[in-house]
Amino acid sequence: MTFPIQRMRRMRRTESLRALVRETTLEPGDLIYPLFICPGAGVRTPVSSMPGVFNLSVDEAVSEAEEAAQLGIGGLLLFGLPEAKDEQGTGAWEENGIVQQALRALRKTPAANKLVLIADACLCEYTSHGHCGVIAKSGDGFDVENDPTLQLLARTAVSQAQAGADVVAPSDMMDGRVAAIRKALDAAGSAQTPILSYASKFASAFYGPFREAADSAPQFGDRRSYQMDGANLREAMREIDLDIEEGADMILMKPAMPYLDVVRAARERVDVPIGAYQVSGEYSMLHAAFQRGWLDRNRAMIESLQSIRRAGADFIVTYFAKDAAKLLA
Ligand code: PBG
Repeated sequence: MTFPIQRMRRMRRTESLRALVRETTLEPGDLIYPLFICPGAGVRTPVSSMPGVFNLSVDEAVSEAEEAAQLGIGGLLLFGLPEAKDEQGTGAWEENGIVQQALRALRKTPAANKLVLIADACLCEYTSHGHCGVIAKSGDGFDVENDPTLQLLARTAVSQAQAGADVVAPSDMMDGRVAAIRKALDAAGSAQTPILSYASKFASAFYGPFREAADSAPQFGDRRSYQMDGANLREAMREIDLDIEEGADMILMKPAMPYLDVVRAARERVDVPIGAYQVSGEYSMLHAAFQRGWLDRNRAMIESLQSIRRAGADFIVTYFAKDAAKLLA
């Protein structure tokens, strides 16, 4: 039975018909809003490569959280810009670290309790060299040492959980970090804190603007010895399997749009909740086109988020969270 009996356009005729048969939903609660927390008070420093994104002092982050909660956004992902950086990244786990301060302030904010507070557990924003782990120099070269980094990440996750994080999200790509973090959380009385592991995180050019926002560009070398090669899908599946075996409660795929096939493959393979991170470069390139009038802002934004949901992500980390939530309201 084909044309003229079958007419696909019949169901596209009105918005109510289209809405009835829409296969993919997108709601404010599916969105996680990243915030970059910096020292000071009343600080809102624009990130030049990311229109609408700021470095925020804790008080300003609290206002953002109130607005995000009002908009029905699902949660926040917190990154920190510490007062000072050092070789080890001490600022990541300090009792009074910048993210820890923000978490405590948010926990005291009633509206923020509607949000899932996720802390990014990584060292690159806190190390003077900008790498995600401990550095061993050898001659002209260097190595980001896997095993010594694990305990620093575990310490970071524990201090974030103790400061009030609902979820910790390791983004470093060291081997074994999920197990190390799980063990440390359990030993510290945080057995109920879930781990959202950035299971397949690719070494991507699309993180460029983030490194300005978080001041975390590597001072030498690059991240290709720990983040994944963008050509590899099977390897991404192994990363996911290992992280789940080690105790990841949810996984995060990153970047999103250039890797939608990976999101889809992950969705078909595993049953844990899956998030996808529409990263800084994805956001900035869309904004660059909006600024030139080359793309319709609202439509392109929603379409980009819908594509990520359609690929199989349950939730999306996106700098568009507030703008999209306003449109979806
Ligand atoms: C930290 C981290 C990065 C991002 C999230 N966590 C940067 C990186 O790995 O270089 C990128 C997020 C974005 O681009 O929006 N390891």
